[in-house]
Amino acid sequence: MKVFRLSHSKNDISSGPHKIIIKNMENKTKKEAVSTESYKGVRDFYPADMAIQNYIFSKMKKTAESFGYSEYGASVLEYADLYKAKSGEEIVNEQTYTFKDKGDREVSLRPEMTPTVARMIAAKQKELSFPLRWYSIPNLFRYEKPQRGRTREHWQFNVDIFGVKNINADVEVISLTSALMKSFGFKDSNFEIRVNNRKIVNYILNDLFALDENTAKIISKLIDKKDKMKAEEFNKAIQETIPERSSELLQLLNSKNFEEFVSHLPKSAELQEGIIETKELIKRLEDLGITNVVFSQSLMRGFDYYTGTIFEIYDTNPENIRAIFGGGRYDDLLDIFGKDKVPAIGFGMGDVGIRNMLETYNILPAIVAPAELYICIQNENSIGFAQDLAQKLRNNGLKVSVDYSGKKFGDQIKYADKNKIPFITCIGDEEVKNGKFKIKELTSGEEIILSDNEIVDGIRKISSN
Ligand code: HAM
Repeated sequence: MKVFRLSHSKNDISSGPHKIIIKNMENKTKKEAVSTESYKGVRDFYPADMAIQNYIFSKMKKTAESFGYSEYGASVLEYADLYKAKSGEEIVNEQTYTFKDKGDREVSLRPEMTPTVARMIAAKQKELSFPLRWYSIPNLFRYEKPQRGRTREHWQFNVDIFGVKNINADVEVISLTSALMKSFGFKDSNFEIRVNNRKIVNYILNDLFALDENTAKIISKLIDKKDKMKAEEFNKAIQETIPERSSELLQLLNSKNFEEFVSHLPKSAELQEGIIETKELIKRLEDLGITNVVFSQSLMRGFDYYTGTIFEIYDTNPENIRAIFGGGRYDDLLDIFGKDKVPAIGFGMGDVGIRNMLETYNILPAIVAPAELYICIQNENSIGFAQDLAQKLRNNGLKVSVDYSGKKFGDQIKYADKNKIPFITCIGDEEVKNGKFKIKELTSGEEIILSDNEIVDGIRKISSN
């Protein structure tokens, strides 16, 4: 970027015939100014948003830890090959940010965490003692069309259990999702847990309809979008893709419930495992008091690595139409690293969808004030004294900030009020001399006079009333 310097010598060109040139230069400088917009589809977190983000993360962490899960982390950069092996095609080809580094290596910004955690486990498989219960809240990057509930960077709560082949793990992770939703204050009626099973899906596409790989992909993508499409539009697309057997598939997909769906299927041995697992999963969750679980034959999940149970959670309010959580069982993912199989099941839950949902139900937490006490200053001479007092109070656990604006008391108090700081005290010559401070609660107007070592307890007492 060019920087134009204006001369202030006696040949100053800001007047006279040169004036017009200067104007053009100014325009040019303005045009070249760097944009304040963030990159498309990512978000800046100003303090109010950061507070909400931290609140959401704290609930996620607390819930995972209450089930005995340990936190892990990894870099946002991965070799691109990691995703080529077994993610969904759409994620790899259309949505991954991939570039060559200076050493000509193909690198991706992680679009999901599952391949990373599988890689980490494969790398230390012999040292780790299974089962592993792990969680993480990574930021992920997907080149998607930004829209409500979908951004190009999101944070995703990942919870996975490795080393348990039986249905108990499926029950555990789904019950964890339910516990998390309850911890935010949602009721069962506010959300729906939709389940399906890849064994059933694969049987229908590969055995019952014997579709070739390409047609199976088109059909499963269509089914995945079924709930977001108009019925005629969906039926037409199915008819065009598999004209001879479209009515058979549509009958299956339009089943009212699991029993009706199963009644349309042949009594094949290959199918039984998926049916039994799904029935048991729903029953076991019901036994735990989780009654908002429904079978959804149109639930597909976009990733190639799922092998059994798949599930997604949806808001029942139509304002948020996209999945809030998505996950499933993936027993073969470690294969790609040439390691022994480790059965696994888990889910991802994005920060964007859950924040929208908290807003929809009006249950966002109240904004937390940056400090508990604001020290207003009468004149410059009191600053050193105020800083000492503030430090003493901070050492005793109080959050304190000091005003350095030099403005009138009234303006300093207004600032505290605007920032929702609950208590103020004003320091001038008298307070410095006497060591007594008038502490005022801004909402009630209540005032008490305290010496420095009484302030923390005094504020705590008023706050707890
Ligand atoms: P996913 O369905 O791609 O699954 O993402 C899980 C959740 O992340 C979604 O339900 C949604 O809440 C959120 N999410 C995904 N993409 C975006 C986006 N562009 N913007 C905002 N939120 C988004 C996975 O990623 C699997 N790896 C999850 C998993 C973990 N499966 C087993 N373990």
